[in-house]
Amino acid sequence: MYIGKKLLLLGSGELGKEVIIEAQRLGVETVAVDRYEHAPAMQVAHRSYVIDMLDRQALRDIVEREKPDLIVPEIEAIATAELVKLEEEGYRVIPTARAAQLTMDREGIRRLASETLGLPTAGYRFADTYEQFGQAAREMGFPCVVKPLMSSSGKGQSVCRSEADLDRSWTIAMEGGRVQQARVIVEEFISFESEITLLTVRSVNGTLFCPPIGHIQKDGDYIESWQPHEMTEQQIAEAKRIAGVITDALGGTGIFGVELFLAKDKVYFSEVSPRPHDTGLVTLVSQNLSEFALHARAILGYPIPEIYVTSPGASRPLKAVEQLDEYRIDGMGEALSVPQTQIRVFGKPVTKVGRRMAVTLSTADSVEEARVRAKQALDHLSIHDE
Ligand SMILES: Nc1ncnc2c1ncn2[C@@H]1O[C@H](COP(=O)(O)OP(=O)(O)O)[C@@H](O)[C@H]1O
Ligand SMILES: [Mg+2]
Repeated sequence: MYIGKKLLLLGSGELGKEVIIEAQRLGVETVAVDRYEHAPAMQVAHRSYVIDMLDRQALRDIVEREKPDLIVPEIEAIATAELVKLEEEGYRVIPTARAAQLTMDREGIRRLASETLGLPTAGYRFADTYEQFGQAAREMGFPCVVKPLMSSSGKGQSVCRSEADLDRSWTIAMEGGRVQQARVIVEEFISFESEITLLTVRSVNGTLFCPPIGHIQKDGDYIESWQPHEMTEQQIAEAKRIAGVITDALGGTGIFGVELFLAKDKVYFSEVSPRPHDTGLVTLVSQNLSEFALHARAILGYPIPEIYVTSPGASRPLKAVEQLDEYRIDGMGEALSVPQTQIRVFGKPVTKVGRRMAVTLSTADSVEEARVRAKQALDHLSIHDE
């Protein structure tokens, strides 16, 4: 029997699904884990398990049973303290257990970036009680941005515009956090001109940067991305400097999504994912190697001779507007009739409000045209009760 490497994926969403496909193409045995059945990556992995990934013992049991060569986190909500222990025992965590731990909550990564590494970020304060929160907001000034320490895709996040919004922002943060914890971060509001993800790969041949991906977020979740994003030489140089510093500090190998705000005369570090980034789905059609192919190569120790944009591209996620236990997606034929357009349907078992169910991916001679096509395709798609 063929003996390849074994990869254990923690979190089995649409990004993990593409990682599994790329790993399998390189002969890797794959095991997918998530907290619910039939998750996207489970549909393509060799085997899968359903566990609570925040449960240290449950996580350890799977690792000891499977003895993977690579443990690859796909999400933040994992018992990262157990990953640290497993790494000490000799298991390899991608990119490193410390990186997974530091990026799991906003405080660890923000303090590292700003206080240890001196990178430019929005001003920030942390608060544990409503009283502290009010004071922190006044210190930051209005508007400010409030986020639970542990959350993603904009959950629990709000812009607090005045004293009158304090109650509302606090309630949103308390209800939207991943864990029962009152601690929040209050950030200075940055009125940036645009925001980007600089995909950065640490590999056997050093650190490489993908051309910048521009994106638009609504309520803290991405609704559109495109590549390449136009930037000045100075902005690109500063973005690479910041991405180089933060990824060097996190270490290991693999891809990182470095989120940056581009203001008139300044580039701000916002946050970083030590794994493929949702806005990077566009690279499935716009690069010679997608962010998933790059991740697979990098973590397996294979070289990446070059990364380039094969065509300007754009992506638009299809989000559910209601909860449905059985659903179908209509308009696929019309959407696929848009030139140079592809769709990835994630195959999630049920919909939830705001849940990403599919993505349209378009290319064209220009970013502008690619964005129009991805939007046209999205407009044809709709989700219905079956
Ligand atoms: N300090 C800020 N100033 C202005 N906009 C912000 C700020 N922080 C976050 N945002 C907006 O909200 C989005 C989501 O915030 P982010 O910190 O990336 O949360 P998440 O971890 O949920 O992705 C950002 O991409 C940006 O559009
Ligand atoms: Mg983000």
